[in-house]
Amino acid sequence: MKMSALGFFSFFFFFLLFAPSLCRVPSETHLQTKKEHASTPPRGWNSYDSFCWTISEEEFLQNAEIVSNRLKPHGYEYVVVDYLWYRRKVPGAYVDSLGFDVIDEWGRPIPDPGRWPSSIGGKGFSEVANKVHSMGLKFGIHVMRGISLQAFSADTPILDAAKGSAYVESGRQWRAKDIGLKERACAWMSHGFMSVNTKLEAGRAFLRSLYLQYAEWGVDFVKNDCVFGDDLDINEITFVSEVLQKLDRPILYSLSPGTSVTPAMAKEISGLVNMYRITGDDWDTWRDVLSHFDVTRDFSNAKMIGANGLLGKSWPDLDMLPLGWLTDPGSNEGPHRTSNLNIDEQRSQMTLWSMAKRSRRKEKVLSQDFSEGRMLGKRALGLTTCKDPKANGWSTNALDQNLEQICWREKLEEPPCLYKRKPLLSSGVEMIYKQRYEGTLHLLASDGLELCLDASPRRRLTSKEFGGGSFTPCKRDANQMWELNANGSLVNSYSGLCATADLVKDDAGSSEVRSWIATGRRGEIYLAFFNLNPVMTVMSAKLADVAKVLPWKNMKGVSCKYHEIWSGKSGGTKQLISIAVAKHGCSLFVLTCA
Ligand SMILES: *[C@@H]1O[C@H](CO)[C@@H](O)[C@H](O)[C@H]1NC(C)=O
Repeated sequence: MKMSALGFFSFFFFFLLFAPSLCRVPSETHLQTKKEHASTPPRGWNSYDSFCWTISEEEFLQNAEIVSNRLKPHGYEYVVVDYLWYRRKVPGAYVDSLGFDVIDEWGRPIPDPGRWPSSIGGKGFSEVANKVHSMGLKFGIHVMRGISLQAFSADTPILDAAKGSAYVESGRQWRAKDIGLKERACAWMSHGFMSVNTKLEAGRAFLRSLYLQYAEWGVDFVKNDCVFGDDLDINEITFVSEVLQKLDRPILYSLSPGTSVTPAMAKEISGLVNMYRITGDDWDTWRDVLSHFDVTRDFSNAKMIGANGLLGKSWPDLDMLPLGWLTDPGSNEGPHRTSNLNIDEQRSQMTLWSMAKRSRRKEKVLSQDFSEGRMLGKRALGLTTCKDPKANGWSTNALDQNLEQICWREKLEEPPCLYKRKPLLSSGVEMIYKQRYEGTLHLLASDGLELCLDASPRRRLTSKEFGGGSFTPCKRDANQMWELNANGSLVNSYSGLCATADLVKDDAGSSEVRSWIATGRRGEIYLAFFNLNPVMTVMSAKLADVAKVLPWKNMKGVSCKYHEIWSGKSGGTKQLISIAVAKHGCSLFVLTCA
């Protein structure tokens, strides 16, 4: 209920999709325009990360209002109630409790009237859907597999939706116990739901009665849970898809979760749905973010992004962005804490989710070979007495006539390098500084980004901090001024100590950097660097290598202007894009080349 302005962020569902425009007159609009479903990744907000199952109608509509006002202009249009909207919020009820659900006489879940007062009188979600539509948004709900254990235990009759009465076949009325597959209970909610036998016409009649009701309520999006990944129920997916295909209002079909999903498994269902998760639940830990990189690459390489889907396209879904004001999984509480991801990690997540959407064919994953991650950040800056021969390891390396690097131990296969520049000591009043710092250097982590190697004694320099914090905005500060001696030592103007850059022992295994490249509608190129390392890493890509993955671009002799989205820095280059990327952080360059 206490929605801060930031709150809505938590719910960014990067549902990786979007959808056609709002259809107020479903049958007509749908038939006349035959708009492709999910022609781009549907985006919106889902209540789960902030409310778990506990959200009320009032809270939901407040969030919808924020989505409508603030996010709709950016293409977010779905608002989705996540699971257990039919569970009474009373003492004893929790995510796997039994017996607290509100079901109708046909064993179908209906909204808990305590939390969804507009549903009273058999109206279901109609009024909520109307309100959401009047905000210019689309309305989605979460549903579980099959039938609830509660309906099964009550052995409710099955509705024949066409007749509006009990389903009768071979002269007998069919009931929940005839169709429920108790041995196929949802593994992670065993007191909740079980599959139904879709080989029986009665089982199909039950599923049909559910989805026809959702359509009547005005639902535009269904997230079907516990049917995919480790919980795969291909029969239910296939039948639900058939029902949705015949509806006269478009309902996007989304599957969840996606634990252990491979492109091969996804290929079996992608044509039947519009979205399907490709990982387990994503929460606000770096480990969860990290687990998305390989699988996203695999789905991109398998050309699964924007493949054919139900009445349109289908999209691998990386799950929600757990940003902003959150709750915890399995909780009975609403939002009460902020995301545990730091700002760099949040940007990486947002950037990967955005880059993964492929609106044009030309986009490809840059292989790691192209990204030339430089492991500068894996080396600790040491300060030692200049008398120590160990310090004599620096030498100059000219990239072109204007650009020089200073590299540590040239013989290394990937020597860590810094970019050399004269400190900016221009104006007249600074004569005294000019004299004092004649011959000194600023050492930049990357060309064109104003971050300078800083030997400030306020920082702990001997640890991994070197990566995380020893580059600070360039300024006229003796801690940032360095002199290269003929014997290869690099002396700091403030302390008189000399720098070394020795390998940090790395517990986290091999160094990992990733690059993604994409093209935009106006011919611009998006180049993303992700630093998965626990220390700052300088990453670079040669324009010639960028051209190799965009073979339709001849980059010979071109020069590119770039704008880095997260830092706001701009510049130009003819050969190399290079930047120091924070631990777990990313950079996103927009290149326009001529
Ligand atoms: C390297 O040169 C500097 C400046 O001439 C000198 O102070 C330092 O002692 C030399 N280091 C070694 C190890 O010879």
